[in-house]
Amino acid sequence: MSGAPQRVVATAPGKINLSLRVGAADERGYHALATVFQAADLLETVEARLPQDPGALTLTVDSRVRGDVPVDTSNLALRAAALLRAETGTTQGAALHITKRVPVAGGMGGGSADAAAALVALNRLWRLGLSDRELMLLGAGLGADVPFAVLGGTALGTGNGDQLQRVPAPAPLTWLLCAPGGHLATPEVFRAFDALAAQADAQPPRTPRADQHQLAALAAGDREAIARSLANELHEPAVHLRPDLQEILSALREHGALGAIVSGSGPTLAALVRDAQHGEEVSARVREDRGDLECTLTRSSPYGARIVAVD
Ligand code: C5P
Repeated sequence: MSGAPQRVVATAPGKINLSLRVGAADERGYHALATVFQAADLLETVEARLPQDPGALTLTVDSRVRGDVPVDTSNLALRAAALLRAETGTTQGAALHITKRVPVAGGMGGGSADAAAALVALNRLWRLGLSDRELMLLGAGLGADVPFAVLGGTALGTGNGDQLQRVPAPAPLTWLLCAPGGHLATPEVFRAFDALAAQADAQPPRTPRADQHQLAALAAGDREAIARSLANELHEPAVHLRPDLQEILSALREHGALGAIVSGSGPTLAALVRDAQHGEEVSARVREDRGDLECTLTRSSPYGARIVAVD
C-alpha cells in the first residue's frame, strides 16, 4: 500500500453475550462482569473520507434498522474520532458515514461497533500506525464493549467487560436475532439489577466467575451443551422493565430454538438454532403470534473490526 488513502471502509461486528454474570458496582457505577462475548456476522460499516475542509469532523448515518441514531457529538464514532485526535495530536479531519445493521440500543453493542470500526478506519486514513491492542485500550475509554468489537471472535470479558481473553469456540453457531421494537437503556437495566439485588438482600460478588461449563461446551463445539449454558444475569432486570420479553423467549423455545436469551441488556433476543433452515422455521412460527418482531438470521463470526476497502 503506498500513498495516502483518501477513503477507508471498515466493518465491526455486533455481539451476543453467551453468558453474562454481574457483580458489584464500583464507585463510578460500573459493574464487575464475567461475560462470554461472541461476534455476530451482523456488521456495522464505517466509511471514513478525507474531508474537503481539512480539519472538519462530520457524520452521516444510513440506518437499516428501527430507532434513532444520534448524529451529534454523543455518537460513539464521532467520539472515537475526537479521542484519536486528542491522543495522537493529529489535526486531520474526516467525513464519516455509518451504515447501521445492528439494532439500535438493542443490547448487541451496535454503538460500540461503530466506535471500533471508526478507530480502525481512522487509524489507517490518518496513518497513525496504532496497533489493535492500542486501539482496544483507547476504545475501553469510550465504552466497555468497544474493545471486544475491535477483537471479535469469541472471548471472555472480565473487569467491566473490557479485559479480554480469546476462548476457543471452533463450531460456527447460527443465531436467530429478534428485535421486539423499542429499546432499553443499558444504565437503566443495570440500575434495575441493583434495585432487584437490594430488594432480595443479595450481595453480588466483587469478582464474578466465568461459566466454566460454557467454556468447555464452546471448546468442544457441543451445540446442545452451549444451548443449555446460555445465561444472562441481566435477564431479570430486562424482563422487569419489558415483561413482554419473557413471552417471546418462551415462544422461541417452544417453537424449537435450542436455547434463547436476552442479548446483553436487551431488548434484542438471541436464539440458538441448528442452521439457517431451522432458524427460518422458528422465525416464521414465532412471528405468527408476534408479527411486529424483526428477526434476522446470522452466524458467529471470527472477525473483529477490520478494513474492507482502501482507496
Ligand atoms: O460502557 P458503556 O458506555 O457501554 O456503558 C453504558 C452504561 O452501562 C454505563 O454508564 C453503566 O451505567 C452501565 N454499565 C455498567 N457496568 C458495565 C458496563 C456498563 O454498569 N460493566
